[in-house]
Amino acid sequence: MSIDTASPPEHVAIIMDGNGRWAKNRGLPRAAGHQAGFRTTRDIVEACARRNISALTLFAFSSENWSRPEQEVGLLMDLFLRGLKSEVSKLNDNNVRIRFIGERSAFSEKLQNEMSSAESITQSNSGLRLAVAVNYGGRWDIVDAAKKLAVLVKQGELQPDDITVERFKSTVSLADVSEPDLFIRTGGEKRISNYLLWHLAYTELYFTDVLYPDFNESELDNALSFYAGRQRRFGRTGEQVTGKHA
Ligand code: IPE
Ligand code: IPE
Ligand code: MG
Repeated sequence: MSIDTASPPEHVAIIMDGNGRWAKNRGLPRAAGHQAGFRTTRDIVEACARRNISALTLFAFSSENWSRPEQEVGLLMDLFLRGLKSEVSKLNDNNVRIRFIGERSAFSEKLQNEMSSAESITQSNSGLRLAVAVNYGGRWDIVDAAKKLAVLVKQGELQPDDITVERFKSTVSLADVSEPDLFIRTGGEKRISNYLLWHLAYTELYFTDVLYPDFNESELDNALSFYAGRQRRFGRTGEQVTGKHA
């Protein structure tokens, strides 16, 4: 292996896309696609934990997904609620620490309680840090951070000049984990769809046509191999990174 290759990713962020098309291809209702996607998520969380990936962030429901037909939104909420109930003890057994990012006040009280309970049950676990983005939007995240900082300025606890990139970084979601090293989007679309806009500044981007329910451990390994072949330069020259000079 060449020394140019990146070390394994610490943080992987995934847009789990293609459930609807997977179901359509099989003549099934979209619900079946979401259920199959849920099973994939179970496997992927375990596979990431086994590979010693420290953080996994999954896009489960975007702030724009409320525009879907009411029936589909209801179904997703239901799946989410039932999934949380059924999975928490297993996540806990696997030493996974789960939390949710996004504006959760839009969810039913039941769901909000279930989210808080999953977070507190698993909060002292030291394994995989799983973040599930629900009612999340990258723009919302940035605006929310700006609002929090503005409040501090208004209260006289912060000067405008104290608002640095570092300070902003510690105010947006996921401040306590490193930025994603690898982004994966299944389902063929090559777009970010308002995911982690702040955090993806230097993330390696991997797009695959595989529909999310078909994304398995070996597909994950394909993404990890892609990542292993990237040279992360962060603005420097290739020679600076390798230490070799032409
Ligand atoms: C992703 O699959 C799941 C969510 C957005 C909740 P989609 O439901 O977007 O599947 P496609 O893109 O229609 O195939
Ligand atoms: C992105 O998928 C959001 C999630 C996977 C939760 P979408 O299917 O909503 O994205 P667009 O609408 O195709 O950009
Ligand atoms: Mg989609």
